Amino acid sequence: MHGLNQSASMLRSKWMEALEPQISAQIMEIHHSKHHQTYVNNLNAATKQLQEAVAANDVVRQIALQKAINFNGGGHVNHSIFWKSLTPSSSDGAKGGAKLKEEIAKQFGSLDEFKAKLKADLLALQGSGWAWLVSYPDGTLKIEVTSNQDAISAPGAVTLLGIDFWEHAYYIQYYNNKAAYFDNLWEVLNWDFAEKQWAQRPLAKY
Ligand SMILES: [Fe+2]
Repeated sequence: MHGLNQSASMLRSKWMEALEPQISAQIMEIHHSKHHQTYVNNLNAATKQLQEAVAANDVVRQIALQKAINFNGGGHVNHSIFWKSLTPSSSDGAKGGAKLKEEIAKQFGSLDEFKAKLKADLLALQGSGWAWLVSYPDGTLKIEVTSNQDAISAPGAVTLLGIDFWEHAYYIQYYNNKAAYFDNLWEVLNWDFAEKQWAQRPLAKY
């Protein structure tokens, strides 16, 4: 039920190759077919166990499964957003999102200031995690940083872009240079996707 579109054994796709040189196809292939697939497999196993625990009315077991569901469910949801957040730097998607960029400039001062804050917040992250551009029902756009595989799950929050800051996302290409990873990733962000997400946001009625 949480299956990936491609099988775990898929070969690197044209899309992965087109993300080069910013992100190597080798990273994308391993990231997608090994890391994401493992979250999916573990989520499916935990979900099945949860259904059994609910059927057996075993509340202690249900509680015990929450951590695995949070971690692996987050791993699946977060990576699903990450793939959509990336597009080749020469594509229309990378150059799009004019209206959203205008709103970002309004709320953050300028797109450059937004980029600087996003970078600073990510570089300040201790350990593994993610950065997100999130839209809230009051119209606010926020940069959020989450640890491990915690997902954005506040009611009404819509994730517009997600950036994976786990070592597996960059290490074999960038080693410890997280700043260079961010600078290059910025070039392949899919602003068309972000703007489409933003257009669907629920707005609070006052
Ligand atoms: Fe990842």
